[in-house]
Amino acid sequence: MQGRSVWGSKVGFLLAAVGSAVGLGNVWRFSYVSYQNGGGAFLVPYLVAMLTAGIPLMILEYGLGHREKASPPLAFARVHHLWEPFGWWMPIVAFFGINLFYAVVIGWCFNYFLLALNLGWGAETGVFFEEHFLQVSSGPFEFVGIRWPIFAGALLTWVLCWLICFKEIRHGIEKASLLFMPVLLVMTIILVAWSLQLEGATDAVWNHYLRFEWSKISLLTAEGRSVWIAAYGQIFFTLSLGFGIMITYASYLPKKSDITSNAIITCLIDCSYSIFAGLAVFGTIGYMAQTKGVAFEEAITAGPGLAFVVYPEAINQLPAGNRLFGALFFLVLIIAGISSAISLTEAFTCSVCDKFKFERKKTVSVLCVLGMAGSIIFTTHAGLYILDIVDHFVNAYALILGGILECILVGWLMKAPKMRKHIFAVSGRKVWPLWDIAICFITPVMLMLILLGALYREFGEAYGGYPVGALLLFGGGTLVLSRFGAFILSHVPWPYQKRTHAHTPEEETLLT
Ligand code: PFF
Repeated sequence: MQGRSVWGSKVGFLLAAVGSAVGLGNVWRFSYVSYQNGGGAFLVPYLVAMLTAGIPLMILEYGLGHREKASPPLAFARVHHLWEPFGWWMPIVAFFGINLFYAVVIGWCFNYFLLALNLGWGAETGVFFEEHFLQVSSGPFEFVGIRWPIFAGALLTWVLCWLICFKEIRHGIEKASLLFMPVLLVMTIILVAWSLQLEGATDAVWNHYLRFEWSKISLLTAEGRSVWIAAYGQIFFTLSLGFGIMITYASYLPKKSDITSNAIITCLIDCSYSIFAGLAVFGTIGYMAQTKGVAFEEAITAGPGLAFVVYPEAINQLPAGNRLFGALFFLVLIIAGISSAISLTEAFTCSVCDKFKFERKKTVSVLCVLGMAGSIIFTTHAGLYILDIVDHFVNAYALILGGILECILVGWLMKAPKMRKHIFAVSGRKVWPLWDIAICFITPVMLMLILLGALYREFGEAYGGYPVGALLLFGGGTLVLSRFGAFILSHVPWPYQKRTHAHTPEEETLLT
């Protein structure tokens, strides 16, 4: 039997993991969430969430992938034979729940990159985005037809995903990450430096982005508690935890690997990137608010509106170089997005290959074609509604449940000290026993609170004011179908003894 692929270098693995974590969400989701939740004071719960949930869970995912040398279904099945369906659920949701629409949003970015070159979005950026670009229909069931420019953008994304994932891990994802991540960093630095010298930018950064409102994070008030919950949710999303992606990536690590350091470095880079990129977002919007003479609060909005409406509007107002600035911004989004999309594709590809022993190239090809076919619904005139609904349900439930399941599996079924022992054995670094507490108690409790909060809100009012039928069909449907798919796949018998760990001589090498 051929041995499992291995990363060519420690840096290659690290950059691929960072590439998965740093995505569309870092550039504008973090900025908006932090602004909404106390500005600078949000950094406190955010960093606490990183320390108490982000890093412990990253260590867990790296440890599990590395120990079992397996994708999530196989890793879960090895820890407890009844848990294979949960192991399937995560990569299925990652692929069918997120990647299908994630590719379409990257497709929007490709379009906006081209539009930036001649400021083709015009003066009324909001009207352009909804009425000319998306041509949004009147409701989630009014598909009308396909928006071909968006279709073309999504197709380009899938082709790129296919080209990168088609090759063996060290020649595909690793090489792409070694190129993408430094380029992304340099472009982000240029963007931030450019934004900060704009008039009104530093004012917006100090008074809105980094403004400390301590009262907002008090655990004594309901509002303060919701800020803490938002921080845990953001950490989870930004670090790509709960989808088995990091389990998959770590399964390609050599036998001797420094799990703890890698986990800490991944978290630190991702979180610092978010905070850093936020400077560009706030700086540019601050400039626009000043030129238009409106209050900052009026200029900023959440979700896609921030990147595709507010940002283009700000770009219009720039004194010079607006085309270049706009193109740079959307290129940053494209690169950040693609490096996350390939990780979503890889997690499912690896799971299928592990179970069925299919050839990687054929599997990736079939999955990318299926992926593009599935993305089509998001390229219709109703795409924005469906995307919003699926995104909401996947983030609010699947991702959080994935994290809780991982904590139960490793913390309680495998027993946390056993994992700590493994990590010590392969890296020579001790993990603090405090980690057990984080995995067995703090993280699952916080995640359960988030889940309960989401459920409470769900039953209180229909999300986004959508018809309940649409929420059930697109949101509930994604969750139920993926769970059903997981059930079916886990009932196919393994074609070989699943307890075999295949080590090649290469895997025994210690990468430093
Ligand atoms: N971490 C990515 C971001 O911040 O945009 C999003 C993401 C990618 C979430 C992959 C989950 C995932 F599995």
